[in-house]
Amino acid sequence: MLHGKKILLIISGGIAAYKALELIRLFKKSGATVRCVLTNGGAQFVTPMSVAALSEEQVFTDLFSLKDESEMGHIRLSREADLVLVAPASANILAQMAHGLAEDLASTTLLATNSPVMVCPAMNPMMWNHAATQDNLKILEKRGIHIIAPDVGEMACGETGQGRLPEPENILMAITNFIQKDKPLSGYRALVTSGPTHEPIDPVRFIGNRSSGKQGHAIASALAAKGAAVTLISGPVNIPPPKGVETISVQTAQEMLAACENNLPADITVCAAAVSDWRVDGCAGQKIKKSANKTPPTFQLTENPDILKTISNHKNRPALVVGFAAETENLIDNAKSKLIKKSCDWIIANNVGDNEIFGADNNLVTLVTAHETTEWPQASKETIARDITDKIVKYMIHIKSQKKAA
Ligand code: CTP
Repeated sequence: MLHGKKILLIISGGIAAYKALELIRLFKKSGATVRCVLTNGGAQFVTPMSVAALSEEQVFTDLFSLKDESEMGHIRLSREADLVLVAPASANILAQMAHGLAEDLASTTLLATNSPVMVCPAMNPMMWNHAATQDNLKILEKRGIHIIAPDVGEMACGETGQGRLPEPENILMAITNFIQKDKPLSGYRALVTSGPTHEPIDPVRFIGNRSSGKQGHAIASALAAKGAAVTLISGPVNIPPPKGVETISVQTAQEMLAACENNLPADITVCAAAVSDWRVDGCAGQKIKKSANKTPPTFQLTENPDILKTISNHKNRPALVVGFAAETENLIDNAKSKLIKKSCDWIIANNVGDNEIFGADNNLVTLVTAHETTEWPQASKETIARDITDKIVKYMIHIKSQKKAA
């Protein structure tokens, strides 16, 4: 349910902190990685040792913050999470958040984060109902902080009213719903190839091509944004790996194929890499020197494996296999014959003849499937990646409903 998700759990003070331990166990069980920040107040109720044992991660406390800062700064800690959850959230930490105080590791992290934040307040009913707390909650709500309201019931202090931390199962359910909202590909695995391949001639030279990896990387990113667990197999590129995507770097077509096969099964595969069709047969072990008689060397080329075709015919074939066709002429005819030759489901065809596609930010593509040939308007590679992803979402939903009906 929360497979691959990273949760940063901030445990602040209050008797309900003991429930945070059960929450960590439930998060781990549903596949999430949980890192915890324990405030000084929180550490009065649960020990860093029990939090570390359950989360199987280092626990971040103010006591260790200097050492932690050198290993993982509070900025990285706050940014790497898919969700920052404060549970239990004391009246004090809500006030710190509402007023932008950065007094300790927890409040500093909350001020520095750009991830979604959820709070689960838990406190004495009088404190909960106090105008100061209610005003702080209004401020937080207005800023887009998600609040899971406390339950009504008997409190540990003996009073009755609203202020109890909801049961961990209910918090887990609220968080799962939140994370899966607008994540129609959550639960699906996607494999994307991107960039060029470099086929060595000798230790210093290679055969390569002009692919920048921009389109493939944008697709990996767009699929991840819709909730898919994405593995990106990338040839050598000069752009950063997309956020929230597992990226495996390779050099050659053979390495790219091996990495793809190692990462099957997947539900969706998009082969956007510009794979070199040939490699040099018997790459030289040493740099090839200019010969005395000045005769240029000749190379015997061997055909590389076709990754798209191999995946399309694999025993673990993904439900949807998408290829690209880089053409300089006869775009649609070539794309249609590639669709058949490579046994894939869709081809995204682009004309690369005018040299304005490789490395550019915009792209002009035509979608070719067994049922349609549609030219899309010219757009940025990010927009095209989102459009391809939307089409993939519809297709996967369609397949799922067909499976259910069968
Ligand atoms: N492809 C691949 N492995 C190869 C060659 C291509 O996976 N060895 C994939 C590309 O990632 C792309 C599709 O096949 O999705 C078409 O690539 P393209 O370079 O357009 O076609 P080729 O198969 O190389 O054919 P040609 O060069 O003759 O046009």
